[in-house]
Amino acid sequence: MEERLQKILAAAGIASRRKCEEMILAGMVEVNGQKVATLGVKADPSVDAITVNGKPIKSEKKLYLMLNKSKGVITSAKDPQGRKVVSDFLPGIKERVYPVGRLDYDTEGLLILTNDGEFANLLTHPSHHVPKTYRATVKGVPHGTALEQLQKGIKLEDGMTAPAEVEYHDVDTEANEATITITIYEGRNRQVRRMFEAIGHKVIRLKRIRFGELGLESLGRGKYRHLTPNEVKELLSIARKTHKVHKK
Ligand code: URA
Repeated sequence: MEERLQKILAAAGIASRRKCEEMILAGMVEVNGQKVATLGVKADPSVDAITVNGKPIKSEKKLYLMLNKSKGVITSAKDPQGRKVVSDFLPGIKERVYPVGRLDYDTEGLLILTNDGEFANLLTHPSHHVPKTYRATVKGVPHGTALEQLQKGIKLEDGMTAPAEVEYHDVDTEANEATITITIYEGRNRQVRRMFEAIGHKVIRLKRIRFGELGLESLGRGKYRHLTPNEVKELLSIARKTHKVHKK
């Protein structure tokens, strides 16, 4: 991905962004053999050869994080309206990381973030059906037959959904609410909310509890941790294994 040169240099640990700007202006930086002595030039460290004083910069360290996103947080790096964004919850992470898929503003739970574009693409590509499990609390108590519809696939305005796994987690007859565990193999916009709306039940709370084999376990709300190399490997292998398997 293209970014401003000073940002790339700072992320590669050369110096602070301000210092990197000075180094660019001093003519110490080259991109693909061409000296760049003005600010504002963009480059892509995954394709462009960038050097400082003739030495290639080290490519950015790959980061793989899991965040337990709170409700009321935008899944994006910045918000023009000044609302909280996921990067506000990553203290100590200087690298720019991107969410792997999205969670709605009001959805909480497991969100993966990375600066590895290939990894993100593999996990979110529509032909790779990585299972994602949610706990949905809905208004009213859906009938078993309604849940079966979700299981088989239901018509939404953007087409039929792929088969899903659905089970009751908890039924609160007094509050007239039910909590249902649902695993989907797609990642359409507001999919779980729309699936329940399609059977006449509004989602009042939604939390993603699993992504592939990964669960939140004891990770507190608003907290993050690094994935282990094994977890990264497992996610990649699930993305590859589920390639086209769940295609309608
Ligand atoms: N489905 C939804 O409706 N919302 C989310 O945030 C994730 C899945």
